[in-house]
Amino acid sequence: MSASFPYLRMRRGRSSAWMRAMLAEHRLHPSDFIWPLFICDGRDCEEPIGSLPGVSRWSIDRIGAKAREAADLGIPCVALFPNTPEQLRTERAEEALNKDNLICRAIKTIKDAAPEIGVLTDVALDPYTAHGHDGLVDAQGNVINDDTVPILVEQALVQAEAGADIVAPSDMMDGRVAAIREALESGGHQNVAIMAYAAKYASAFYGPFRDAVGSRGRLKGDKRGYQMDPANSEEALREVELDLAEGADFVMVKPGLPYLDIVRQVKDAFGVPTFVYQVSGEYAMIEHAAAAGAGERDALILETLLAFKRAGATGVLTYHAVDAARLIA
Ligand code: PBG
Repeated sequence: MSASFPYLRMRRGRSSAWMRAMLAEHRLHPSDFIWPLFICDGRDCEEPIGSLPGVSRWSIDRIGAKAREAADLGIPCVALFPNTPEQLRTERAEEALNKDNLICRAIKTIKDAAPEIGVLTDVALDPYTAHGHDGLVDAQGNVINDDTVPILVEQALVQAEAGADIVAPSDMMDGRVAAIREALESGGHQNVAIMAYAAKYASAFYGPFRDAVGSRGRLKGDKRGYQMDPANSEEALREVELDLAEGADFVMVKPGLPYLDIVRQVKDAFGVPTFVYQVSGEYAMIEHAAAAGAGERDALILETLLAFKRAGATGVLTYHAVDAARLIA
């Protein structure tokens, strides 16, 4: 039986900065963050993304410096996304399998510039398809699961061969984790890990990302036929269970802040490394709120990131990674 007021005063534990520091149950560290980076074609290019204020696409010759910046701050991993040139976007996403595509070149450049940082690559076809979907589409506009999986497998192998350390299928096709794992094993890539976007919701928070990879205008229909319904949480646990059974090393919940309940449930149910993606729309909300004077930017950044830790996240993919690492340095 614990004491009650006035013998118990909860405010004693909040009465000084050192006391608060001593009692903090969770804290942020640069190693909590994975930094998403957008790659564009061309030379010496920085292309700011209008709907993602403060985030740019970088050409290959400038991406090494970004990875160096992250590594120097103690950020363990970057996640790469391409803005594929218009003329290379096709119905069947052939460019995803090009060993010399933007992603493969970026991996090599980053490995030269910052050999100590991990490189995570996205396995999905949306930056490469003319229709903006994550897989192949039939005449009715449905994404065809079983014809898409072998292409994703090939894409993952191409990325692994270029030096990716973690492949992250974000496409939500059924059965792709097992197929990718098997191909990595037999292809000599035993140490390439799979971070499965296991519970990925059909969210309205992905808009700025689709601008960044150039898929927004071209997307026909929506992704509700393969991404999860925001109404569901039991289904998220089934998705995670399946991806783990298929050989996923780590799982991800996405988006972040609106889905903290899912992060907590996944962590409690499975006890595996559970990552969360604070997505582009969440980032934009913070930036716009701060710009409008509705909150103090640095505090908003740190409070939201800490919330992920409290919910049980192992790490966070966040466009604020570098800002946050500097703030807590
Ligand atoms: C697509 C993909 C998306 C994101 C990561 N991979 C968008 C989508 O599913 O349409 C979103 C990330 C973000 O919004 O920051 N494979």
